[in-house]
Amino acid sequence: MSYNLLKGKKGIIFGALNEMSIAWKVAEKCLEEGAQIVLTNTELSIRMGQVKDFAAKNNVPLIPADATSEEDLEQLFSKAMDLLGGKIDFILHSVAMSLNVRKKRPYDDLDYDFLQKTLDISAISFHKVLQTAKKLDAMNEWGSVVALSYVAAQRTMFEYNDMADAKAMLESIARSFGYIYGREKRIRVNTISQSPTVTTAGSGIKGFDSLIDFAERMSPLGNASADECANYCITLFSDLTRKVTMQNLFHDGGFSSMGMSYRAMHQYNKSFENENDK
Ligand SMILES: NC(=O)c1ccc[n+]([C@@H]2O[C@H](COP(=O)([O-])OP(=O)(O)OC[C@H]3O[C@@H](n4cnc5c(N)ncnc54)[C@H](O)[C@@H]3O)[C@@H](O)[C@H]2O)c1
Repeated sequence: MSYNLLKGKKGIIFGALNEMSIAWKVAEKCLEEGAQIVLTNTELSIRMGQVKDFAAKNNVPLIPADATSEEDLEQLFSKAMDLLGGKIDFILHSVAMSLNVRKKRPYDDLDYDFLQKTLDISAISFHKVLQTAKKLDAMNEWGSVVALSYVAAQRTMFEYNDMADAKAMLESIARSFGYIYGREKRIRVNTISQSPTVTTAGSGIKGFDSLIDFAERMSPLGNASADECANYCITLFSDLTRKVTMQNLFHDGGFSSMGMSYRAMHQYNKSFENENDK
């Protein structure tokens, strides 16, 4: 159901690779809610993924850009403003990649060149997006910028590896830039800390199926899906959340506030049953 929450608004969506991508779902909902959007991803991801099909089907501009390249970002913002006919009202940063995760380097045997790339792609790119937008004065007052994070920024999650460090930095950038952008331009900056979700990036994490299952059982409302995450993003892009800024907002069915659940207690006790028999 559409509420026209983004009628008249213009946005840039980073990170739609294929129909599993959270950014893909956000792009769909933005269109449903009446926004005009520009999609962007790297040349390689555009070639390898399906975002070009989405763009063609929905008649949406698709502009290649590496989110770590200031030059690419400058061109992206300039072209987006030309194509959309004005300044931008919202941005989704849905970008992450770790070569240490991909190449299965454990956290106590990191490749430091890979670590630099993880931080650049998954966290510093968010700063670059914000800084470029501000320098070009590319955003309207009361605009909204959202990046996607994960609870591993606060709590150690087995096998999340150097992405945890990147997410901690991402959330810090939202606070630090949110202060300046809010004070000077009335633009809000937030991160959404999303449940584990089956996507190309998510599936790269070792033991991801078990993580999803564990989170599902531990969360009183169950895991939040990519579609539900998209709904939450829409509220943050809309005028209904104008005073929400510099926050890391958990969208995880309650997982982040749980310690011990009835189910986990039950399972824990069961694991001692054989021992007690002895
Ligand atoms: N899937 C999950 O379980 C989960 C949970 C919490 C947060 N997140 C976050 O959500 C975001 C989106 O990931 P997803 O799960 O939809 O996976 P995805 O693989 O669909 O999206 C990741 C995107 O990052 C893009 N990307 C990588 N390097 C880039 C670069 N240099 N410049 C521009 N784009 C680049 C990829 O092309 C891809 O489109 C990420 O920040 C991820 O960490 C995912």
